[in-house]
Amino acid sequence: MYRTSTCGELRISDVGKTVTLAGWVQRSRKLGGMTFIDLRDRYGITQLVVENDLSLGREFVIQATGKVVERESKNPKIPTGDIEIKVESINILNKSLTPPFTIEDQSDGGEDLRAKYRYLDLRRNPLKKALELRHRIAHEVRNYLDAQGFLEIETPYLIKSTPEGARDFVVPSRMNPGQFYALPQSPQTFKQLLMVAGYDRYFQIVRCFRDEDLRADRQPEFTQIDCEMSFVEQEDVLGMFEGMMRSLFKNVLDVDIPNPMPRMCWYDAMDKYGSDKPDVRFGMTIHEITSEVQGHGFGVFDSVPYVGAIAVPGAAGYTRKQTDELTEWVKRPQVGAKGLVYIKLNEDGTIKSSVDKFYSEDDLRKVAAAVEAKTGDMILVLCGQKRKTQTQLGVLRVEMGGRLGLRDPHVFAPLWIVDFPLLEWSEEDGRFYAMHHPFTAPKPEHLDWFYSDKKEDLERVCANAYDFVLNGTELGGGSIRIHQADVQERMFQVLGIGKEEAEYKFGFIINAFKFGAPPHGGLAFGFDRTCALFGGQETIRDYIAFPKNNQGRDVMIDAPSKIDAVQMDELCLASTVKTIDP
Ligand code: AMO
Repeated sequence: MYRTSTCGELRISDVGKTVTLAGWVQRSRKLGGMTFIDLRDRYGITQLVVENDLSLGREFVIQATGKVVERESKNPKIPTGDIEIKVESINILNKSLTPPFTIEDQSDGGEDLRAKYRYLDLRRNPLKKALELRHRIAHEVRNYLDAQGFLEIETPYLIKSTPEGARDFVVPSRMNPGQFYALPQSPQTFKQLLMVAGYDRYFQIVRCFRDEDLRADRQPEFTQIDCEMSFVEQEDVLGMFEGMMRSLFKNVLDVDIPNPMPRMCWYDAMDKYGSDKPDVRFGMTIHEITSEVQGHGFGVFDSVPYVGAIAVPGAAGYTRKQTDELTEWVKRPQVGAKGLVYIKLNEDGTIKSSVDKFYSEDDLRKVAAAVEAKTGDMILVLCGQKRKTQTQLGVLRVEMGGRLGLRDPHVFAPLWIVDFPLLEWSEEDGRFYAMHHPFTAPKPEHLDWFYSDKKEDLERVCANAYDFVLNGTELGGGSIRIHQADVQERMFQVLGIGKEEAEYKFGFIINAFKFGAPPHGGLAFGFDRTCALFGGQETIRDYIAFPKNNQGRDVMIDAPSKIDAVQMDELCLASTVKTIDP
């Protein structure tokens, strides 16, 4: 037997027992002819005392047998801090090279180095806690859904491309030369086929693959809690998954979320928060002030369709240098505003703006009233096309919320965004795209508009689609689906997908709908994002055991990599890789 106890379990009540521990040497120090070793495993750290000089390197794997004794100088910082092991025999199970960075909560290793030695990084506490949290959430999800009668069913990874808006990762087929599988961006079509097959409550904690640009909350392979239900309306789906999130918050974090959870319609979210994933931990909402500011001779405002503003609490004290910096900040490509106008409601009762030339004090007070600004606030104004400007104000709002410390990661403000438009017009491509995906159903009461040929009508069609938003992050999304072949065909038509293309790409699902498809709907949560937000982080990387870096590389195993000529031949691939100038 390698061990009788773990390094995290022995307490004062165990004094007198003879135990055997095994683990890694966190630290070892010699003192007055004795050696003190901090022995670490997944469960904690226990101090060993050896009554002679012993040289052990960091991360050596050892096994030690001895008696549990009470410590003279106790360490209240760790649960085993009252005891130590008086070692009788010690056995080096394996040596270790000196690790390239310290295996401590605050490591001295940079991100790249730690990614290269991910297996060492994973020995650190913060990562261990992240993976424990991930396990716990997965467990709770399965408990909840199992109790509700959901079946966990796996769907294939080698499929035909499913359109979700991102690029597919493709896999060449050796047995079918010149043909490719796609890795699923989600199991969307399969879960719908399971509904046709009668499995009316399906879920899967499933890997999804999307070849898109990466960000803190995006990985090329990520995990979804993917769910679908038959014979349901939007209310049934929202109720079921609100219940799941409520039980996760309660059982994992002991946090009570509002019951019922708040809902906001998409149009309100865009108008007031400039985002379809509003962070509602704080106010600072967007107000339109177009009519208040136009007609005063200020050409910038007079020449645009929309002027909007937010009131930043307590920011009237911003210096010229700070407002200049903020002006530069909104001009960055990530925000994309042309400029910034500010109005300060100073503590001494005066009001001052960067456009005093055009507006009297009275005019400015009218704006302040419209924005619901108070003494001490600074109003920030942007203008331009309506949605674009609202989005920019939304980004600015979140930035100011962060600067003011209003985005506490341990405060949770979940809500549903509902009533999404079904379609999104792309000026660039001169065509409609599905806001969610092409399987989302139009609201039954909007069917007339859906069958209309007018762009304005199609733009007005709403869907029974919903997103679960937490602290400014889209955690999940779904919809009630189309279940009639003719409606699905119309959807492809609206999206400019011709009959032949639709048949080639989606023939299987259109066909399936002809065999008694039940009304159905569902959603998927981003599992990595859920874990990260529960852990108080925005970056999902630490909640994935072996993630990719921002270039989509796994630097530990060095992937992606070239394959040899034989493999290329077998796959009937020619090595005509274009070299791209950096
Ligand atoms: P959607 O595309 O909105 O919906 O994805 C669902 C959730 O998955 C998470 N997510 C990601 N997480 C990490 N990295 C990524 N690259 C990434 N992309 C998405 C988000 C998102 O809310 N089939 C539909 C669901 C449905 O309609 O049932 C779908 O995949 O948290």
